[in-house]
Amino acid sequence: MLTLCQQESKLNVVLTMIKDLYLICLTSSLISHPMNMLTKNMCSNEVNKQDVVRITKPKLNKNYQMLKELLVCSSMKRGEKYFNACSGCHPINERSSHRFGPNLWNVVFRSIACCSGYTYSLALIRLSNLKWTLNNLNKFIRQPSSFANGTYMTFSGIKNPIERMDILNYLNYNSYRPLSFNKFRFN
Ligand code: HEC
Repeated sequence: MLTLCQQESKLNVVLTMIKDLYLICLTSSLISHPMNMLTKNMCSNEVNKQDVVRITKPKLNKNYQMLKELLVCSSMKRGEKYFNACSGCHPINERSSHRFGPNLWNVVFRSIACCSGYTYSLALIRLSNLKWTLNNLNKFIRQPSSFANGTYMTFSGIKNPIERMDILNYLNYNSYRPLSFNKFRFN
């Protein structure tokens, strides 16, 4: 049978062991000091450098990503309707002759300003080493004068991206070989 004093000293040994263990864990950062946890939480609103990179990078491409998604789910039928904004000036039929604007049959990936029998502005002729990629078409249709300053296409542009993507779908449909939209990128 242990005396009261012996029991107390045994308890003391156990308590010191627990304290030592706690200190070892603390110094080897296996557990957090309550104060550390407090300051950690207080600083959790701070944005570190890596987060900034992660937040700003996709933001730059967000618009192009959105255009791509709109293009993938665009509608040729709606595009046909929106093309009414263009059809006053542009025919879009293999055998039609040009009107005030050139025939837009097979325009996707055609060289810029390449139709014979049509007199283009210098603004477009200067770009004739480029092609009508969906990217260029998107920019031109959004605001013709900023894509080709001095163009004869006196048209304010289609501001709604959904309508623009539907029109691109319709232009692509009216081609010898309509292309799949998965490959295209906007920039
Ligand atoms: C007011 C008449 C008019 C309207 C409306 C119009 N365009 Fe044009 N478009 C023109 C003219 C004129 C040109 C030739 C531009 C030049 O030479 O600078 C042209 C050129 C183009 C070209 C370049 C073709 C080539 O052979 O290089 C494309 C593509 C085009 N238009 C698409 C459209 C689309 C799509 C719409 C409707 C959203 C539209 N246009 C609306 C008059 C118009």
